Amino acid sequence: MTTKERVLAFLEEHKGNNISGAQIASSLGVSRASVWKAVEVLRNEGYPIDAASKKGYCLQNRSDILSKESIFPLLAKDTHIHTIDVYKEVDSTNTVIKQLANAGAPDGVLVVSEHQTAGRGRLGRQFYSPKEGGVYFSVLFRLSYPAEVTTLVTSAAAVAVCRAIRSICGIEAQIKWVNDVYIDGKKVCGILTEASMNFENQTLDYVVVGIGVNVASQEYPSELQSIITALDQHTDRHIDRSLLIATIVNELEVFCKELASRSFLKEYRARSFLLGQTVRVISSAQTYEAKAIEIDDDGHLIVLLDDGTTKVVGSGEVSVRPVG
Ligand code: BTN
Repeated sequence: MTTKERVLAFLEEHKGNNISGAQIASSLGVSRASVWKAVEVLRNEGYPIDAASKKGYCLQNRSDILSKESIFPLLAKDTHIHTIDVYKEVDSTNTVIKQLANAGAPDGVLVVSEHQTAGRGRLGRQFYSPKEGGVYFSVLFRLSYPAEVTTLVTSAAAVAVCRAIRSICGIEAQIKWVNDVYIDGKKVCGILTEASMNFENQTLDYVVVGIGVNVASQEYPSELQSIITALDQHTDRHIDRSLLIATIVNELEVFCKELASRSFLKEYRARSFLLGQTVRVISSAQTYEAKAIEIDDDGHLIVLLDDGTTKVVGSGEVSVRPVG
């Protein structure tokens, strides 16, 4: 770690508090002059750091630049995340982390970007990922569960996002099967889970959970305006994006430890707004209307057809929309 990174980590840990240059210098074992120099560089990068001769330095609470130094201290003490890569811009954090996974990166990598030029959604769709508009990140898991258990991580992630939104914004979000998060009927978060299969032992070699949350309202493209929303439209609270990422990861890690117990499913069902509604199920093979009645223990949607029979809808190449 460079001195600048260490000073930033120290200031992030004491965000909102005044700390003297002497205290920072002695805690880090560096000179006061190098602390001063690091602070100057950070200020030039846009960090709002107050400096007063008697009080010392203070990274303001409103500071919202994403960095590994801003995220790591907010993760749980026993987090499995050991590497955090933060970018200003990438094509897609899922693509970046899959390249790392294919090159042998171990479990516990987090890739974050301020902006995605080719954010990807489910079913080959694009995910609109503007600068300063949200958080876009992916987590690499290598879980030792059978494949049918590991795939539950996608539904667990939706509940983790809802819990983080409740804790940070005080809002109760809902889930649209399979893993879109909604507030007041509009999408605020999308989740794309991608996996690599190990055919020899029938387990998943790795799973990448990619999450995009709209945080600050933007001039959305016209086709998205009636469909998507951002957190800041529903709360007056300051939304610290590093805290949002860390809280989602913390919640998700707890669920992952006990994935086979499906501890998240009760809440997933309670937050699922499609249940009880007539939906249109759209797959490449057919499109039909049915009533969404249940989510089974594997996270599949159970629908009731007009003829009284039920059908299990897996998440694969299927899109489900409420009718009416
Ligand atoms: C969807 O809405 O269909 C899923 C959207 C998933 C978006 C996230 S943003 C971070 C990660 N990188 C991507 O390219 N996609 C996911």
